[in-house]
Amino acid sequence: MALPYLEKNYSRHLAELREFVAFPSISTSPEHADDMQKCAQWLADHLTALGLKGKVMPTAKHPVVYGEWTGAVGKPTLLIYGHYDVQPPEPLELWESPPFVLAERGEYFFARGISDDKGQLFIHLKAIEAYLKTEGRLPVNVKLILEGEEEIGSPSLPAFLEGNRRLLAADAAVISDNPMLGKGMPAVGYGLRGLAYAEILLDGPNSDLHSGRFGGAVANPANVLCRMLGSLKDEYGRVAIPGFYDRVRPIAPEERETIRKLPIGEDFYKQATGVDALSPEEGHSAIECIWSRPSMDINGLTSGFQGEGAKTVLPAKARAKLSFRLVPDQTPDEVLDALEAHLKNILPPGIRMTFLRHEGAYPAMVDRSDPMLKVAQKALEAGFGKPCWLIRQGGTIPVVSLLKKILNLNTLLLGFGLADENAHAPNERLLIENFTGGMRSIVHLYRMLGA
Ligand code: BES
Ligand code: MN
Ligand code: MN
Repeated sequence: MALPYLEKNYSRHLAELREFVAFPSISTSPEHADDMQKCAQWLADHLTALGLKGKVMPTAKHPVVYGEWTGAVGKPTLLIYGHYDVQPPEPLELWESPPFVLAERGEYFFARGISDDKGQLFIHLKAIEAYLKTEGRLPVNVKLILEGEEEIGSPSLPAFLEGNRRLLAADAAVISDNPMLGKGMPAVGYGLRGLAYAEILLDGPNSDLHSGRFGGAVANPANVLCRMLGSLKDEYGRVAIPGFYDRVRPIAPEERETIRKLPIGEDFYKQATGVDALSPEEGHSAIECIWSRPSMDINGLTSGFQGEGAKTVLPAKARAKLSFRLVPDQTPDEVLDALEAHLKNILPPGIRMTFLRHEGAYPAMVDRSDPMLKVAQKALEAGFGKPCWLIRQGGTIPVVSLLKKILNLNTLLLGFGLADENAHAPNERLLIENFTGGMRSIVHLYRMLGA
């Protein structure tokens, strides 16, 4: 029996999870390319040990790990996606225990990737194991794709999906790589925002200048960058780039109603972030802004003298990284085209601009009329013994829109994380009750979908 098996084997499963999180599988760092390979091989071997014939499939960069069990004739096939790559752990001095050593303190596990996404991906492996090692079979067919490039925007994934259409044929996709609504509030997701990311390089004089000898007569790239960035948002919190909202779908009245009835509100976000006031776009609540409205954020800003004390300098250059979260039907290319045109339009004389585009992702909406959503809600309710909510989310998982576009698959977003688990930050953690509740939920999901 699958559920008691999970309890009986809990400590061995933790020992395996400890091995999995020990790989510093940091996809963005070239010096960790070897760790990526080793982590992928570990996963493939693990899948093979479970009976899923794991293999490491190379891509242009980091490999995809694939495994399958397709012995449930006539039953639905689930394509389970997860990512084994993680974000860099820096700043290291802020970690209370080493990032690549699994730690347990209070109600939480701690490690880089424990919530995003190694711990959540591992939940699926153990639910599968629980069936195969007790009943010798699964109630549904499963195919797993475990990616190593999610945190860098999944650049190799479109070609991988296009090149393996037949191998990956399925009825629906399942992903656990996102938070629930809150503690004790399991949720099925039906939407994610997309991402557009750009870098702006402004160059002025040949070298840094004495600001007394030249200031006032020579355009200062830092001043100009501030003006240009300042023009991107208006006093109502709206993005002020011409055309930016042309493709934004208005929020449906039912969705506004759903949001109003949620058991979390402004206080939740104030508490999670430590700010004393929120700054949502005028006319929208905080949750509406995160779920269903696009946003713009400066992610990095550099120019001039960064040391202690004062230096009277007119810097030669200024740089900014900025990104937009997108909602249907915006596209990364159109948004960056509009941004670039706007910036060129306001660029003053005496400054040269270089505009760089980084990896982006389309927003994703799941068809809410898909009967699988109801089944997933029931499975989570059985796993957690709590009502299950239907939610949208502000983050981005590039594969979701790609699965729809390339394989025509709807995705079940069954996240077992929490919004305050320090994903991408020091002391990343995962609530242990969500780890165990997640495994139980997936066991129920397979049984319910197979029936
Ligand atoms: N697991 C997150 C995505 C996520 C976060 C979904 C919160 C829902 C709520 C994922 O690993 C991630 O961090 N994605 C990146 C996008 C990527 C293109 C770099 C993100 O959202 O910034
Ligand atoms: Mn993730
Ligand atoms: Mn992430």
